[in-house]
Amino acid sequence: MKVLHTVKEVVDWRNTNVDRKTQTSGFVPTMGCLHEGHMSLIRESKKENDFTIASIFVNPSQFAPTEDLDKYPRTLQNDLNLLESSGVDMCFVPGADEMYPQGIPLRVEEQRGPFVTVLGVSEQLEGRTRPNFFRGVATVVTKLLNVVLPTHAYFGQKDYQQYTVLQMMAKELFMNTELKMMPIVRDSGGLALSSRNRYLCEDSREISKNIYRGLKAAVSKLHKQDGAKMERSVLLDTVQEIWAPFVASGDFSVDYLSIADASTLQELDQVPNSINVVISCAVYVKDRANGSTVVRLIDNILA
Ligand code: PAJ
Repeated sequence: MKVLHTVKEVVDWRNTNVDRKTQTSGFVPTMGCLHEGHMSLIRESKKENDFTIASIFVNPSQFAPTEDLDKYPRTLQNDLNLLESSGVDMCFVPGADEMYPQGIPLRVEEQRGPFVTVLGVSEQLEGRTRPNFFRGVATVVTKLLNVVLPTHAYFGQKDYQQYTVLQMMAKELFMNTELKMMPIVRDSGGLALSSRNRYLCEDSREISKNIYRGLKAAVSKLHKQDGAKMERSVLLDTVQEIWAPFVASGDFSVDYLSIADASTLQELDQVPNSINVVISCAVYVKDRANGSTVVRLIDNILA
């Protein structure tokens, strides 16, 4: 596996190795600290393409000054070993200067240079708690796609809103890459794999599986319903009933619980029991072993 650090090296590698007219290339952008969720995207790309390319870049422009940029787990050598043994052809590991020639101060007012904003699907849900997050994601993914020029790029449903934003961006900016979304990989208890799970003790991870239990209960209620639509409040109550003991004990604090149209991410008052509904959430979980550690976990389910 080639490990490349500059844009020029990647462009040269691409021009030498990939003939875009006759060959496909799959791209999996990541921030590293790889787990089975990331590796499922790599495997799918390997299955479907002549070449598979990954990137590892902890993108500073998607972190707020208060967030965990410095603390974000970095396990580069282990990540590269995993990618190599999975048959990845090339991994791009740029430095921040390479991706942001104007520099990237964390304070938004001090930032310079081009950014990509996708209006309408970025402001709600994750965007409400993390105001410039999707601007950072859309910008870095645009840069990465322009450098790598893959025919296909793979993203996880784990970050459903991220996929929705990027899909709209790629389509409406006429980018020449087909985006694909792969299912959420979970542990045996149902907790969605995330690099942030490692901050929780076993006890708290065990409790966190109730996040998904709640979402699943709502979807099964929706599917059991005879009529064409269901009241939003009935579904919210179903989830909250399951979460209630953990909210009461201080283990969970709910940031948002949303029932939205899966294409527009607009909240639904009446929920159709057929198609195109996404139930999503962000929950702060307090670590039982170290009460000052609070981890924000996101999850979702497509009804
Ligand atoms: P990162 O959090 O490293 O995730 C990289 C990709 O792995 C994303 O598409 C994410 O949805 C997917 N993924 C993470 N956990 C998953 C799971 N449990 N099951 C399935 N897929 C999972 O998302 C980012 O990085 C960044 O925002 C990025 C797109 C790289 C831009 O910086």
